[in-house]
Amino acid sequence: MPEERPLTALAGAVAGAVAGAATGVAIFLLLRQRDNRPEQGPSMPQNDGGNVQAKDQRAKKAGFTSKWTKPVVIASPALEPLAKEVRKRLGEEEYPESAGPTVTLDYFKSKDPNVKFNWTRVVGRKIIFLFDTVDQSRFFEQLSLLQALQGFAVPDGEDKGTKWKTYVNAGAYSWGRASHITVVLPWYRPCQMERTSRWHLTDDKWVNNNAEGQWLDVPNALYMARLLATPGSVPPLPGPNSSMDGMPLNPLWRPPLELLFVELHEEAPVARSVSDLGATIRMERFVPYFLDKFKGKPTYPGPNNMYILFPDHGAYSRYATSVRERLKLDWDHILYIKKTRVGESIGQEQKLFYEEDRTENEKSDHFNGSKDHILIIDDFTNSGSTLFGAVKLVKMYAGGSDQINVSIFVSHLVATYDPKTVDSLKEKLHELGKQCRFFTTNSIPSTTDMLKGDEQATVIDISDFIADMCS
Ligand SMILES: *[C@@H]1O[C@H](CO)[C@@H](O)[C@H](O)[C@H]1NC(C)=O
Ligand SMILES: *[C@@H]1O[C@H](CO)[C@@H](O)[C@H](O)[C@H]1NC(C)=O
Ligand SMILES: *[C@@H]1O[C@H](CO)[C@@H](O)[C@H](O)[C@H]1NC(C)=O
Ligand SMILES: *[C@@H]1O[C@H](CO)[C@@H](O)[C@H](O)[C@H]1NC(C)=O
Repeated sequence: MPEERPLTALAGAVAGAVAGAATGVAIFLLLRQRDNRPEQGPSMPQNDGGNVQAKDQRAKKAGFTSKWTKPVVIASPALEPLAKEVRKRLGEEEYPESAGPTVTLDYFKSKDPNVKFNWTRVVGRKIIFLFDTVDQSRFFEQLSLLQALQGFAVPDGEDKGTKWKTYVNAGAYSWGRASHITVVLPWYRPCQMERTSRWHLTDDKWVNNNAEGQWLDVPNALYMARLLATPGSVPPLPGPNSSMDGMPLNPLWRPPLELLFVELHEEAPVARSVSDLGATIRMERFVPYFLDKFKGKPTYPGPNNMYILFPDHGAYSRYATSVRERLKLDWDHILYIKKTRVGESIGQEQKLFYEEDRTENEKSDHFNGSKDHILIIDDFTNSGSTLFGAVKLVKMYAGGSDQINVSIFVSHLVATYDPKTVDSLKEKLHELGKQCRFFTTNSIPSTTDMLKGDEQATVIDISDFIADMCS
């Protein structure tokens, strides 16, 4: 880094400029002036046997311009409505339609991605990238854009004469970067594939109960995280003749990268999988946030008549503590169901349990349909059958009464990404009667858009939550 004084002076100038309108350009021009100052000069990446030196994978601290600028929120098309809300909440300046998009994802005739971004808007800025893992055909274009934001070449204008063919060899380009990047994963599609079983093939059937199994799973939840966390590219040699954001070129500075997972199914394996890549992993849970909202409703019955039920002990272990904290319920109001395994098929034991002093107890009394309210919680669902099975068990414990208020909350409505599954889920919900309500978030908009207008379903917009996590 150059010495402190000019930086501080520049800070004031940037802060002033930011108060004005065209932030990106202003920063760029200011930094340009600074780079042109003869006493500083651009620091050239050194050609070290064909390598640009990068001291660390990436910096821990954001580039200095990030402090005075609002973040720029970008998103894959499916998450654009969510991005719009996050922008509002973060107070990002509105760009008029006439100023064009920040990013365009287009396709060539061959269907290959053709991605462009307005570099003046992202250079030196904090970026919040809402990353879509549902539409797998968009993975590569988003990944490429994520790489670009961590370091991109801006050819000198003169090179237009050769159709931008000579700037690399002539070193006639500048190097731009975001100052900090947060990749928000509202839903992480490969989340269930986080470990390796040993598999064995018997009579054309795959089984994982053989200690000598000679096939292994590819745990792609870990590998997608690694791809996301891969450090950005290096400038093509001989290298740029200026740095656009005032951050060092040699050793090459790369912006910090944060991966923010919302309610990830298995947190530890994914967090561990990128430990060498210098990215920050954040695991944020939505359930405590929902519990606060739920408790704030006028119909909340209070701790004496409120029960939480988890469809399995795994969910219980994940969330029991936050239920205690947020709702102050007694232990015998925090219940779970046990899974049964008969051969390949998984069922639910028709009993309710709770833990007290680390001892498992079976719930012995009934629910009272005219006072009690039961909230069933899980992180995601496909067919909904586990959740609806839990509702039926609740009704059994209410003396077979249909007149009991039961709510279901799942953070992510996966529904096998299939409109037909969403339809059948709605049907099953209606069959359970009006006193059964379903809550979820819009982390997978393609499924939850289909719940709009349904009397028994509520889709909670997670833009507030995301904005809170990013500010
Ligand atoms: C690029 O973004 C800047 C900053 O918002 C804006 O002023 C400019 O008009 C945009 N350029 C184009 C060609 O859209
Ligand atoms: C970079 O090099 C090109 C070509 O030599 C030159 O036109 C341009 O002014 C230089 N830029 C800076 C910032 O030195
Ligand atoms: C349920 O609660 C109501 C109201 O407190 C009470 O009158 C009724 O007896 C209770 N029912 C049972 C089965 O305990
Ligand atoms: C059941 O839910 C309805 C609608 O929210 C509410 O009016 C009613 O008071 C609830 N009944 C009990 C027993 O909580």
